[in-house]
Amino acid sequence: MTSTDDRFAKDWEQLRRDPALSIYNEIITGPVSDWATDFSHMEEEWSQRAPEIWDDLRQRCPVAHTERFGGAWLPTRYEDVAEVAYDTDHFSSRAIIASNFRPPKDIAPVGEVPPISSDPPFHHDARKLLLPAFTRTAIGKQEDATRAFCNSLIDGFAGRDVVDAAAEYAQHIPMRVIADMLGFPPEDGPRFARFVENALEGINRSPEERIESGSQLFNYLFEQVRDHVENPRDDLTDFIINAELYGQKLEPIHVVGTMALLLIAGIDTTWSAIGASLWHLARTPEDRRRLAAEPELMSTAIEEFLRAYAPVTMARLVKDDLTWRGVEMKADDWVLLPFPAANRDPEQFERADEVVIDRKVNRHAAFGLGIHRCLGSHLARMELRVAIETWMQRIPEFTLEDPSAVAWSTGQIRGPRKLPLRIG
Ligand code: HEM
Repeated sequence: MTSTDDRFAKDWEQLRRDPALSIYNEIITGPVSDWATDFSHMEEEWSQRAPEIWDDLRQRCPVAHTERFGGAWLPTRYEDVAEVAYDTDHFSSRAIIASNFRPPKDIAPVGEVPPISSDPPFHHDARKLLLPAFTRTAIGKQEDATRAFCNSLIDGFAGRDVVDAAAEYAQHIPMRVIADMLGFPPEDGPRFARFVENALEGINRSPEERIESGSQLFNYLFEQVRDHVENPRDDLTDFIINAELYGQKLEPIHVVGTMALLLIAGIDTTWSAIGASLWHLARTPEDRRRLAAEPELMSTAIEEFLRAYAPVTMARLVKDDLTWRGVEMKADDWVLLPFPAANRDPEQFERADEVVIDRKVNRHAAFGLGIHRCLGSHLARMELRVAIETWMQRIPEFTLEDPSAVAWSTGQIRGPRKLPLRIG
């Protein structure tokens, strides 16, 4: 064993913080009485008709509220979402998935999964050390393998008339790409799906259940780190193990926290974006045929799918009591940042509610705004483009098998989870 190994001698159970330190609120579920005063992104109605809910709120109550999750706010105008995203003095990223927990305050400015959970000034340094692994050039090296994988998934549909493009195609692509980049066994994909589901959608589960599932993820990551320390190779896990901050290797908790982030941040997000794009093309034959006939429109079409079907809503915690846009926010209230709602604000975009695949100017917020803007955007765009290009080349004609069978996720990452398409 080398000296580097000593950092990983303790395991997650010995390193993790005492969960009793966190604030825990009563779980409130059930149908929403009024979206302005009782909103919940965990309810079925949100998954089915979130864009209509945002449009309604933007007009009648631009900063909605709920008592659920121990108190949360929902701005829906572009300029309000942007203002919170840029204002790191009043809004903290110490947790970014709204739930009935608040992590202890002393977890800031690092947070559990740096850099997304980090506040300035630490955030800048934690983000900077990851940048070389996510440049356009670095990501370009994944493109051939991604295309080959997309083709192999489509080969697997041979002879079938109906395929679930969310479960059998879109989901697998980001799972395989990030597993390859991190150097994890490709067959572990289904385990990642469970980890991600717990982190993003399991927010109304009991604290015990959530802590147990979180421990499974961190224990898994420790196993992978130890395997990499014993058998070094040229991948993203080794890159993080060897990265330095302030002249020192990273704390083990930082190493596995960042690995957890990369695993969680890239899967449901990209899965949702690929699925929503295919959903749009399946139900809009004029766009599908135009894109097949004019493949040079692919890059504007991809940006437009990202704008119109942006999958990611992030959260912040209010640092201290504050009056903002006329509402009284309390310390530790959540503020959701629905980037998808900002992207459909008619004050910001012409024809905001239409999908215009050759839209010329498209400064959308799908990848966030401000210091936390998506670090994986080159990777996400590459996966989305390759997934759609490959599908369109191999399966140019496809339609929704049954529009009522399409199911969208609840929670902060929104995209199709069941998408039966007729391809034969
Ligand atoms: C279509 C797919 C994706 C979308 C829409 C998306 C969206 C976002 C958004 C909105 C944020 C801002 C978070 C905030 O303000 O708190 C973010 C941050 C981040 N994303 Fe993505 N993401 C995608 C794919 C990916 C991928 C593939 C990766 C890499 C594996 C990734 C890694 C990250 C990281 C590390 C951050 C945190 C950056 C920071 O805090 O400085 N994302 N993403």
